[in-house]
Amino acid sequence: MEIQLWRKILSPYDQAVKELTVKFEHLIKEYREQGQYSPIEQVHGRVKSISSILDKAQKKGIALNEIEEKLEDIAGIRIICQFVEDIQKVVDIIRGRTDMHIREEKDYVSNMKESGYRSYHLIVDYRVETMYGPKDLRAEIQIRTLAMNFWATIEHSLQYKYKKNIPDHIREKLSAAADAIIVLDQEMSQVRSEIMDAQNSFQIQSRLVADILNTIQNLYNLANKREILKIQDEFYRIYQSENLEQLRRFQKELDLIAEGYRAQSC
Ligand code: GTP
Ligand code: MG
Repeated sequence: MEIQLWRKILSPYDQAVKELTVKFEHLIKEYREQGQYSPIEQVHGRVKSISSILDKAQKKGIALNEIEEKLEDIAGIRIICQFVEDIQKVVDIIRGRTDMHIREEKDYVSNMKESGYRSYHLIVDYRVETMYGPKDLRAEIQIRTLAMNFWATIEHSLQYKYKKNIPDHIREKLSAAADAIIVLDQEMSQVRSEIMDAQNSFQIQSRLVADILNTIQNLYNLANKREILKIQDEFYRIYQSENLEQLRRFQKELDLIAEGYRAQSC
């Protein structure tokens, strides 16, 4: 097939990967802006390369004109979570959306593959709007924890290195590592609420600090230098105390001061 034709076939998949990535990344942003813990930690997307498509089609005996119908992972999205519990949350979020519809689910989290691979797979129907009109296609969404991703990445590189014939002694090591990953994820789940609290307060603090600095910056045009220096010193003092409540109070006071200046300057 000519390269130009491949481009035309793959273009909507490229669009789907870009759109889906933006959508999931925006979800992370929304959670964080609300001061909430995001069940999604990272999002990655890729369109399958032409050579991988050809390889897979040949292996599975798929004719070139059946590729779009039979290869479900031309558009691939990988969603990485911090904790095992987050995986089901992400699946529920996707289930509730109107812009993608789940047509297939594989739970390799509860049912680990023989290799030791764990991940939750969804095949979704997704529509993109192109210059030729709407195009319905499929995308594969893999949802896994950071630890599961670590294992899968290493194992994938080894598969590549050994051309899918990983020697037995390495297989055994990988299998032991897969068991260790299960334990690691379980251990992490036990400290989940503490980690979530710590991350939340860190995010709240960063937003407060950004907000305060912004207000101080605006005050430069309104207040006199001496007062600003006083405010800045006060801010550094409170900032160093690492007390979220005090920072909140300071932000409120600062808002009142800024409000007063704004009223005067009208
Ligand atoms: P494919 O022919 O690979 O599509 O198999 P399938 O249709 O039975 O799908 P499956 O859900 O088993 O795998 C889909 C994708 O999951 C693969 O393309 C890989 O990205 C990933 N995957 C599945 N099994 C393994 C594994 O043992 N190791 C690693 N590293 N990745 C895997
Ligand atoms: Mg598949």
